[in-house]
Amino acid sequence: MSKENFEAFSRTKKNMEKQGKTWNGGEKSEQTQQASKEDFKEPMNAFSNIKNVIGVVSGKGGVGKSFVTSSLAVQMAKKGYKVGILDADITGPSIPKMFGLKEQVVGDHRGMLPIETKEGIKVISINLLMDNEEAPVIWRGPVIAGVVKQFWNETCWGDLDYLFVDMPPGTGDVPLTVFQSLPVEGIVIVTSPQELVQMIVKKAYNMANMMNIKVLGVVENFSYLLCPDCGKQIKLFGESHIDDVAKELGIEVLGKLPLNPEAAQIADEGKFFEIDNEEMLSKAIEVLQNTEKVKA
Ligand SMILES: Nc1ncnc2c1ncn2[C@@H]1O[C@H](COP(=O)(O)OP(=O)(O)OP(=O)(O)O)[C@@H](O)[C@H]1O
Ligand SMILES: [Mg+2]
Ligand SMILES: [Zn+2]
Repeated sequence: MSKENFEAFSRTKKNMEKQGKTWNGGEKSEQTQQASKEDFKEPMNAFSNIKNVIGVVSGKGGVGKSFVTSSLAVQMAKKGYKVGILDADITGPSIPKMFGLKEQVVGDHRGMLPIETKEGIKVISINLLMDNEEAPVIWRGPVIAGVVKQFWNETCWGDLDYLFVDMPPGTGDVPLTVFQSLPVEGIVIVTSPQELVQMIVKKAYNMANMMNIKVLGVVENFSYLLCPDCGKQIKLFGESHIDDVAKELGIEVLGKLPLNPEAAQIADEGKFFEIDNEEMLSKAIEVLQNTEKVKA
């Protein structure tokens, strides 16, 4: 498994250090050096220049975080932005499959080099470091959190307008690490109508608040099914309460995505770039475009 890969990285790093060379993958940029004095943020390395780190979270598994992460990444890439995805779901990585990525990540003196989709979205995922993508990752929380940090500060991301971080479900070690260690510009909360929406959205919202992370808004996934015959919206999971919950919390509804069987199949085939949900995510796109660092 990827342990070998990680060991290879450590060896490269040590060898370089032995030869008196610097491991630039760990070199701090001036800007972040300054920031790190004030908090626990892990510095970006000298080969990454990322304007906006956007976390995608949910209180529950299987609601479509990875689907929404990939959708946002594709839409922003189609708008001409430079986009990356950090797959922070170490035990259940699903981004590579959605984009049909199979190559193995390699590294050089700069650090790990993300794999690019043919449309130019840069991806780092534990699956891209494994020899066998079916081998389970059975590491303890702190080790997993450490890998997520490495994906951040030992990856040569280059220039990115947006780095989307696809989180594992819940409010565990990984989201905690990401919120603490990465300069997260804001998070997108993903829910589905059948959840105990109120409680779960609030949990994610409260966690973000406690950690001083901005909530950009909420995306409701599996909102409805479009009848293939008459185009009527079928509310599979009953009426949605997302508008009320969002209003109560003072956050925006960034989009409502239908359960789209065709999209599920396209995602399964690794052709995510072909999925078109620009219209349903137009609010999300607008909010992302307005994040201050892009404007600056
Ligand atoms: N709107 C949608 N229409 C059709 N299929 C979807 C939609 N959203 C998600 N899916 C599919 O449903 C499955 C679960 O979605 P996804 O992997 O994004 O959930 P997740 O919240 O990331 O799950 P986990 O908690 O395991 O990480 C995937 O096969 C995905 O392609
Ligand atoms: Mg997922
Ligand atoms: Zn119908």
